[in-house]
Formats: sequence, C-alpha cells, structure tokens
Amino acid sequence: MNIQTLLNQRIQAAMVAAGAPDGSPALVRQSAKVQFGDYQANGIMGVAKALKTNPRELAQVVIDKLDLSDVAEKVEIAGPGFINVFLKNVWLGKELAELRSSDHLDIDKVDSPEVVVVDYSSPNLAKEMHVGHLRSTVIGDAVVRTLEFLGHTVVRQNHVGDWGTQFGMLLAYMERLRSENSEISMALSDLETFYRAAKTCFDDDEAFAKRARELVVELQSGNEECLALWDEFINISLTHCEETYKMLGVSLERQHVMPESAYNDDLVNVVNDLQEQGLLKESNGAQCVFMDEFANKDGEITPVIVQKTGGGFLYATTDLAAVRFRQHTLNADRVLYFVDARQSLHFQQIFTLSRKAGFVKPSTQLEHMPFGTVMGSDGKPFKTRSGGVAKLSALLEEAQERAYQLVASKNPDMGEEELRNIGRVVGISSVKYADLSKNRTSDYVFNWDTMLSFEGNTAPYLLYAYSRIASIVKRSEIDVTSLTGDIAVVEAQERALAVKLCQFEEAIQQVANDGMPHFLCAYLYDLAGTFMTFYEACPILNAEEDVKNSRLQLALNTASTLKQGLALLGIETLERM
Ligand code: ARG
Repeated sequence: MNIQTLLNQRIQAAMVAAGAPDGSPALVRQSAKVQFGDYQANGIMGVAKALKTNPRELAQVVIDKLDLSDVAEKVEIAGPGFINVFLKNVWLGKELAELRSSDHLDIDKVDSPEVVVVDYSSPNLAKEMHVGHLRSTVIGDAVVRTLEFLGHTVVRQNHVGDWGTQFGMLLAYMERLRSENSEISMALSDLETFYRAAKTCFDDDEAFAKRARELVVELQSGNEECLALWDEFINISLTHCEETYKMLGVSLERQHVMPESAYNDDLVNVVNDLQEQGLLKESNGAQCVFMDEFANKDGEITPVIVQKTGGGFLYATTDLAAVRFRQHTLNADRVLYFVDARQSLHFQQIFTLSRKAGFVKPSTQLEHMPFGTVMGSDGKPFKTRSGGVAKLSALLEEAQERAYQLVASKNPDMGEEELRNIGRVVGISSVKYADLSKNRTSDYVFNWDTMLSFEGNTAPYLLYAYSRIASIVKRSEIDVTSLTGDIAVVEAQERALAVKLCQFEEAIQQVANDGMPHFLCAYLYDLAGTFMTFYEACPILNAEEDVKNSRLQLALNTASTLKQGLALLGIETLERM
C-alpha cells in the first residue's frame, strides 16, 4: 500500500474538480510533525497563485469536493493553504491485516513494468577488486533487488574492463613465466602481486615493454594464441570477482558479464555512423566530437575522442557501442550507471552524444548514479595500514573476524559454528550497510568502530532489533501461522508503529526512482526505533488475549518488514545473535 500515491490521486482529482488545471500536482508529503497529521498536501498554494485566488478559500473548495472518509478521520486546512490529513486508526488496522496476509507485504507491483539495464560493479580485470569497487557493487545490487521487487525487468550488466593496453603487459609476463616453466595459475592466485611484477618488468626491461606492445596489437587483431592466453587471464580474474561477490552476497554472476571486449567489432561501426551523420571532426589526427554543451566559459569545448591517431578506440567509443546495444538489443527503457562521480563529465558527454546520434529513443532514460569516495580517517582515500590499496576480499575477511570477536565476547556460551556464522553475517553486513546508509553522492569515512557499533544507524543495530523481535515472538509460544484476529490501533505508540509500517512502499519507491538506498536504510532505522518505543510502552506477552494477539501481529509485521527491507539491501538476517 502506498498512502502517498493514494492521497495524491484523490486530492489531485478534488483539485481539478475545484477548478485547478488538469494534472496540477497535489504534492502530498509525510508530515514533519504530529500536529500536522500524517500527511500534508502542499499543492494548493501554487495553483491558487496561478488562478489568482485565495489559497485558503481554494483549499476549502477542494476539501468540499474531497471524500477521504474511508481512510481519514480528519482533514483540515492549515497555514497559508496546506491540507493536513489524519489517518483513521481502523483503516490503519485493516491495512496492517492485509500486510500480514500478503506474501509481498501488500506492495503493489508497478502497473507498467520497465526494462531497466543496470551497469554496476564493472571493475577493470587487470587487478583484483579493491575498496573502490565496493560502492558501485553494493549500491547497484540494492537498487537492482528493489527494482525487481517492484516488478520491473532488470538486466544486470557487469561492464568489466578487459581490453586496455595494460593487458599487453600482463600477457607478456604470462609468456615469460611459461618460457621459464613457472606455474601460471599459482602466479595468478594473487593478481595484485602479479600485476606489480609485470609492471616492474615493463618499466625496467625495454625488450619486455616492446613485446608487451606487440601483444596488445596481436590481441586486438584477433591472434589466436594471444587470445587463448588472454582468455586464461580473464577467466582467473573473473573467478576472483565471483568469490568476492559471493562473500558480499551480491547477485552478480558470470552471465551478467558484458565486457568491453564484446563491443570491439562494433567500434568501427560507431565511428562510421558518427562520421555519416557529420558529427566527427579531426583534431591532431584524432577523431573527435565537439558539442557546444561542453564549452567552458571561454568557449573552449572538451571534445569526446572516439578514435586516436593511429586508429585505436577509447573507453568512450565502447560506451557509445554499449548504449546502442542496451537500447536495440536489450530494449532498455532506463539505463542506470553506478559509476564513480569522477566520471560525470564522461557520462554527460556519452548521453548527450547518444541522443544527437539517435543511438537511443527519446523516451529512454540514461542516468548516471554517481557516488563519492571511501575515505580513511586521515581524510584521504582509504588505504591499508601499509599504505596500499585495500583489497576488497581482505577487507571482508577482516570484517568477519572483527565481528566474530565482538559477538564471541558477548555470547560466551554460544557454539563456535554459530558464532562464526553470526560473525560472517554481522561483519559483511556492517561493511555493506555503512556504505548503503550514506547518501551516495558524498564521500564517507571508513571506520570499523562506527560500522560495527550496536548503536545508531548500523547493521548490528538492525540485525539485533530483528533478532529481538524474533525472540519475543518465539517466547509467546503461539503458532503465528494461525494467529489471526483484528489488529487494534489504540495507543499513540501503536499508531506511530502502524503508520511507519504502512510507509515501507514509499521508502522503496524512492530507492527505485533515485537509485539511493540510504532512503531505505533511514526508513528501517526509524522503523526499528519506533518498534522499540512501542515495545517499551505497550507490553506484549503479558497483555490480555486480544491485545496480545493484536500486538503480536504488529511485532510480526515489523519483523517481516525489517527482514524484507534488509533483503532488498542484500543483507541476511539472523533469528538469534
Ligand atoms: N571499468 C570502469 C572503471 O573501473 C568502470 C566502467 C563503468 N561502466 C561503464 N559503462 N563505463 O573505471
């Protein structure tokens, strides 16, 4: 149930009946204060201004035309012409009963599902995944899960970088190891070390560097032997990624990999197409597109370079080919790119050019979902203690170990196996949640103590809240599957919890629209807090039968909402911790 949508529709219809132009928005929002009711419509003032009438008078006409008697107990005019809506307790109780009996938490699937292509994670395969890949991977995955839950068709695209000049260097190094009869797969078990060793050879040994450059050319012109070697490298590198995805609980699999190399044969067509449309201009031997939109204040334009002197293609050319593929083969209605904010200009250029060149339908939305950097406590991008880039797998190992120590110290009587499992869930979810709960557009500081804290907007707090509710239900010794009867919304704390529970859909809708999981995190944190306040004020287990049944159902609804919400964030829950 989406109360906001329902009120928007009803109030908008009443506004039109009161003389407002068709489509005037009612602008319904959750109220900021209890005295303003549960929801507030802010749309009257704008319309009154356009119609040159008194907003309070217009609000009165709207209210006269508005029938909310089924859902609201009071509708009043406030301030300069706001409409405040106070929901009915009986209605809230009925909604909660529906929530409880629905296997989809009474959330409507969207009326017109879209095909949403989501480009996320997308690491470069020359190195192992590091902390810089965390954000794209976990934020992208949460949005993907949310879109699917709402009924959209999601196509995951892991646009991995497997085709740059650095692969010549890596192949030359593999070739050298082979000639020395060294175990290649052993050497590749640590990609980071492998990369560094290859780089040292490349920098110090002219013959090696020459061979590396030859190998890139051979690779790109389709030499079989070269491709076989490259394939071996890519395969191992992707296996590393998959291990990390598995550890992280991210839904990406091999089938979602659509690498840069896959567009190789189409790049020449992209350039020809731009040429035919008269969009290309040669500049210092390179093929470029100059668009006025990207001029600075002195009129100098930053061009999109699509082909280098000598014929090589670039990152941008591949992205143009990818846009066409996503439109024409995948039939995207929306394409979301979860990529570092530092690539904003690149994407604005790709999107603008794709439209000019007709690579996408006018109605297709191309959206860059930028994010900030993970910082260390020193205010610089996060590094390991020794100053290197933090490997994601190592970071996740550390998280699990830290969480294990923490829960082991709290539960001296718990068995080792269970403690390890709790350590795994708490550790991984803490790292993910710390990232997901921040507005993605800003940088954030990576801090073990805050992310593993049981207080505040953290994963341990939410997991603990969930397990506490699970234990209350367990202690009731009631078979919850057969638990029925009315949910009575009486006390103020019951009411606050009931309203919160009904707002789940609004929170996830925001995640789907804006690609911002922190809205859902904030909602879940609020929900858990609202439950705790309710639980302190309204005893459950020692209440008399009817009240107990009703409150137990409120608890069950809270538990299933928390569990579902966390699942959308890609976070497992624990029945006990
Ligand atoms: N591999 C790129 C990087 O690590 C990110 C790719 C993002 N997706 C895209 N379609 N350009 O910077």
